[in-house]
Amino acid sequence: MAQLTAVLASTHHPFYYKATTSPPEDRPPFAADWQRKVEAYRSTLTAAEPDVLVMVGADHFHQFFLDGYPQFLIGKAPRYDATFYNEIREFGLPTYLLQGHEELSGYMLQGLMDRDFDMAFSHELKIDHSIICPIITVRPDADLPVVPIYTNIFAPPMPSPRRFYQLGRAIREVIDAFPSDLRVAAIGTGHLSLELGGPRQFGEHGPDAQFDADAIEWLSTGNVDAILENVTHESLAGAGNATAGFMDLLLMAGIAGPGVEAAYTDQLDLFHTREMYITWNPNQTPQQSDAARRAADVSGGVAGAMTAAQVLGEPVAPGAAVEPAVDEAGAIV
Ligand SMILES: [Fe+2]
Repeated sequence: MAQLTAVLASTHHPFYYKATTSPPEDRPPFAADWQRKVEAYRSTLTAAEPDVLVMVGADHFHQFFLDGYPQFLIGKAPRYDATFYNEIREFGLPTYLLQGHEELSGYMLQGLMDRDFDMAFSHELKIDHSIICPIITVRPDADLPVVPIYTNIFAPPMPSPRRFYQLGRAIREVIDAFPSDLRVAAIGTGHLSLELGGPRQFGEHGPDAQFDADAIEWLSTGNVDAILENVTHESLAGAGNATAGFMDLLLMAGIAGPGVEAAYTDQLDLFHTREMYITWNPNQTPQQSDAARRAADVSGGVAGAMTAAQVLGEPVAPGAAVEPAVDEAGAIV
């Protein structure tokens, strides 16, 4: 059977590429710190040695509109064009031609339908920055085939947070059942609290710092119950008009599994949004443990989970830090 070697959940920020590739005199003051953190995060995927990437994202009204917006969709094309004109113009993003993995896409589609998810599908999907941003950050060579899965985090009425979580669980079951010796990594991006075009856009911090801190703790400790108790469409909207993107991060926690602590967690408070970088290693090897520790040393993140107090920079009481127990071989116990 296929082996799931890493699950990555992060925010995506379309200006990362421009901020870190512009001439040095044009880069923002936080660019070097941002790049250091992203490259450390990348090393956690590299250590997983994936053969194929299951990519979870959402179309930002580039390909799908209100004449037909799928709740959940899977791409099953042999290859995917990526990056739309406005993303090239506004964010300076490159174009891509990503290879697909038709066999896993087809197996995933049937497997999800067998698990009561009647997915839409597309042989003509064009990919936007929700998937290209993580390609740029964690696999910039774009050298692996992808299985893109799109969710609706933009066009109400949207599926419930619980449904996003359940889809993550179903995706995990399908990956685990895939009759192949492939090493699979699942990578999904979404948002913490975020305001787009509203009165709280471009503030000094993200629009809801407490939600961001709670979200990072919930996700990195695998506390799915707390998420499902506290997070609704209404609460997400209260934290910012684009915070529904958190549901894709919850989906990734579904792939990782309930109660599963992150192998690596990091975050960065940009001026208008908090960035988050989480990796779970479902079948963690000593090599992956070492990679997480080395990444944390470089980034200032942690090889484990992060509490809300740590996110907010508050003193953490002795013994309160959340880190997974590790056996002599480096595997999480
Ligand atoms: Fe986006």
